[in-house]
Amino acid sequence: MLKLINIVGARPNFMKIAPLMAEYKKHPCINPILIHTGQHYDQAMSELFFEQLGIPQPDINLGVGSASHAVQTAEIMKSIEPVLMQYKPDAMLVVGDVNSTIACGLVAAKLGIRLIHVEAGLRSFDRTMPEEINRLLTDSISDLLFCTEQSGVDNLRHEGIASEKIHMVGHVMIDTLFNNLKKARHSLILDHLKKQHVLNGDHFAVLTLHRPSNVDDQAVFSRILDGLEVIQQDMPILFPIHPRTRKNLTQSGLSSRISSMQGLHLMDPVGYLDFLKLLSNAKLVLTDSGGIQEETTALKIPCLTLRDNTERPVTVQMGSNQLVGNDPQKLIDGYRNITNGKLKTSQIPPLWDGKASQRIVNIILESV
Ligand code: UD1
Ligand code: UDP
Repeated sequence: MLKLINIVGARPNFMKIAPLMAEYKKHPCINPILIHTGQHYDQAMSELFFEQLGIPQPDINLGVGSASHAVQTAEIMKSIEPVLMQYKPDAMLVVGDVNSTIACGLVAAKLGIRLIHVEAGLRSFDRTMPEEINRLLTDSISDLLFCTEQSGVDNLRHEGIASEKIHMVGHVMIDTLFNNLKKARHSLILDHLKKQHVLNGDHFAVLTLHRPSNVDDQAVFSRILDGLEVIQQDMPILFPIHPRTRKNLTQSGLSSRISSMQGLHLMDPVGYLDFLKLLSNAKLVLTDSGGIQEETTALKIPCLTLRDNTERPVTVQMGSNQLVGNDPQKLIDGYRNITNGKLKTSQIPPLWDGKASQRIVNIILESV
């Protein structure tokens, strides 16, 4: 019996763990244990995804909540250590690049527990991004590294990680997307938005923003709003707002500016199925999210990424993604190109076929 601890903490982790938890069920020799660190805790940032994606309730929730990077990471480490000592798992699986990923990974590695990293090797080469530090450190202590795209494999090899530890398997987040597209078609979110006269057709864009580099700095956020102000006069923009961004808007003087934009519609964060409905029907997506760059590529929906770099280069090289940074003119030009029909031809990257979790579990069973 393989006792396998799985860690989740923040919103993007839930889509990544869901297909793995489902896949484990096909293998009675795996005893999966699910631990939620509690990094994200609002109903709309956590519980909702368990319900919609059929993820079993966590065996334990460490309930760490929000804090500075050091305090949050330290609290997760302090809370997970006794759990690992009690359960004595054969391996721990972590996903993505959030603080929960490195905090749990580090404790497991020091206890001699084999560490498995799903979504390994991605690099923005920008160490001012907290996630880049988490990625580099997690990969350097992992025993088994699963990559979503070839750049991940190349980066890991370049960093001297042994080839036999690295496996290109595709993307569990895209497994979840394909598994849920049909269900998402039944979402009523667009009907509600039309009834509320927020939309009067299917002509809309979706926006998400939560990177500290964009939303923690008022001057940068304000520049982004300069671009959005022009776009929203032409096309309604739906903006499900991340709690970090909501907090910053409230604390800065920018709330009233947003309220004055008739075409920019702020909403609470929406559940996965509603969000998928919005993404798959949008004319374009504006984002600084990691996962949404990939989901739009899988859906072939044009995406303008409000960052200067991406750790997911396949979405630009093959997919429907373009980097526009935080320069309002670049944002407006990118928007105009899309609406004038100058669309990138795009392809779905190799192995983004809905079978990544199957590949991962087979390799875990052969290797651990
Ligand atoms: C985290 C991840 C980021 C990921 C994002 C996904 C790190 C370093 N960052 O960023 O990589 O892209 O999640 O959404 O791990 N808050 C709430 N309710 C919640 C959660 C957060 O109100 O349920 C607010 C709190 O004010 C908190 C702030 O959001 O201080 C930031 O939360 P935190 O988990 O520290 O980082 P995120 O910005 O969410
Ligand atoms: N998402 C969602 N509702 C929202 C915004 C995003 O369900 O209101 C989903 C999105 O489809 C993707 C994931 O959340 O699967 C991305 O998470 P996020 O952007 O928070 O994190 P990142 O990918 O940047 O780490």
